[in-house]
Amino acid sequence: MNRDTWGSKIGLILAMAGGAVGLGNFIRFPLQAVNNGGGTFMIPYFIAFFLLGIPLMFVEWGLGRFGGSKGHATLPGIFCAIKNSITLKLIGVFGIMIPLTIMSYYSFIESWTLGYTFFSLSGKFGAELTPDQSAAIFSDYASLKSFWLPYSLFILILFLNGYILYKGISGGIEKVAKILMPLLFVFAFFLVIRVFTLGTPDPSLPDNNIITGLKFLWTPDFSKLGEFKIWLAAAGQIFFTLSLGLGAIACYASYVKKDDDIVTPAIATSTINEVAEVCLGGSIAVPLAVAFFGVAGAVSIAGSAGLGFGFVTLPLLFAKLPFGSVFSFMWFILLFFAAITSSLSMGAIVVAFFSEVVGFSKKVSCLVTMGLVCLLGHWAIFAPGAIDEMDTLAGTYGLVLFALIEIYVWVYLFGFNASWEELVRGSHIKLWSGIKWIIAIITPLYLIIIISGWLYQDAGKVFFLQGVPENEIIYRSLTRIILFIIFIFLSILALRKKK
Ligand code: PHE
Repeated sequence: MNRDTWGSKIGLILAMAGGAVGLGNFIRFPLQAVNNGGGTFMIPYFIAFFLLGIPLMFVEWGLGRFGGSKGHATLPGIFCAIKNSITLKLIGVFGIMIPLTIMSYYSFIESWTLGYTFFSLSGKFGAELTPDQSAAIFSDYASLKSFWLPYSLFILILFLNGYILYKGISGGIEKVAKILMPLLFVFAFFLVIRVFTLGTPDPSLPDNNIITGLKFLWTPDFSKLGEFKIWLAAAGQIFFTLSLGLGAIACYASYVKKDDDIVTPAIATSTINEVAEVCLGGSIAVPLAVAFFGVAGAVSIAGSAGLGFGFVTLPLLFAKLPFGSVFSFMWFILLFFAAITSSLSMGAIVVAFFSEVVGFSKKVSCLVTMGLVCLLGHWAIFAPGAIDEMDTLAGTYGLVLFALIEIYVWVYLFGFNASWEELVRGSHIKLWSGIKWIIAIITPLYLIIIISGWLYQDAGKVFFLQGVPENEIIYRSLTRIILFIIFIFLSILALRKKK
């Protein structure tokens, strides 16, 4: 079968960057930074970027191009191309389950960004917006109290994703990324300029200003580095923001030509993601919140707001500026561009699984994929606590555990030297050979330490659902059962002999 390939280098890089740059860069990152000591967070963050992020990027690009040359875009197939075994194929199915699960709740949040873009245009976030109003708008919207708008936008988002996926890699995803990614950067750039020129909004509170906000984010307090929780949070953020540990990078990389350079685009896309996260994502929400509420105020808001930081606090802050609606429009449309290019990268995996592993036609694969996302998405929306459960299992623990398996297969089953040769084959830049050792030893050790830390700190709590509100326990348990059933269903399909 003739596989789709990327139309151009720049298209590949923009699509890959589009997959990585998402809500994680603009909402999750500022929240994590503020909740974990600001500047102090940045040290474990950059260490995790170099010792986990970059090495795993190389592993996934390597797995992807190699798999693609054998006709596989997804991990059940790629793993088996390296070593044919039923166990590996079943483990590979987690590389379908994780993106499917994340996509199901991610698309719901993606649909909020669209609703909020309309709200900004309609003048709902005008100068008279009060904190209570902003909080009420959000809770009505996210809990679907104002049913029709949020619900129809959610369905629209599913159709939109399904349609673009149906158009394919070069004809759909690449085209969309080539338009949306440059626009995303333009909007982000405008917002950063606006924030930086804000100075001290309230002269009677001279300490609350942009410089204080930036200092908070860039001045580490070394005495706090001993807190293990900051290291865990930093590693988790690196995984989430770079879309590592679920085969998303491998899937896109499988559509490069078999002798194309993968080292340069791997470095390029990681760099783009970090610029979008640290330079742009870090220069909007945090300095803005500090300029209006001071460091202590920003920390207390971030601690309790969660996603509300992006959807309640920011519209409120923009509303205080002249032409506030324009800036809140830019903010939410930027989030929408970031989110849709990311959800496509998850959807592409599931579509590829149904078409390449199961053998469905392109159309049926897209329909089945979006049908599953729709079902699971409804569960996420309507079952209390389901989103948190899915995010914990797939979006937090799943990624890190699965990354360890990816490294094992790549380095130890493919071969220590063979995998390195495969990675650097065709590369335009000469990669420092020490990276070979980092990938084989340091990165897995780092992962093992993180996993052990998690097991020690909260595995029991998470497993037995301790500390979860009483009414959520049943729904969270059902979430696990539903995910398990889908896993069995996908496994049967994966093991079935393809016609
Ligand atoms: N990297 C995306 C973000 O920052 C999230 C994502 C995770 C996308 C995993 C695809 C796969 O929002």
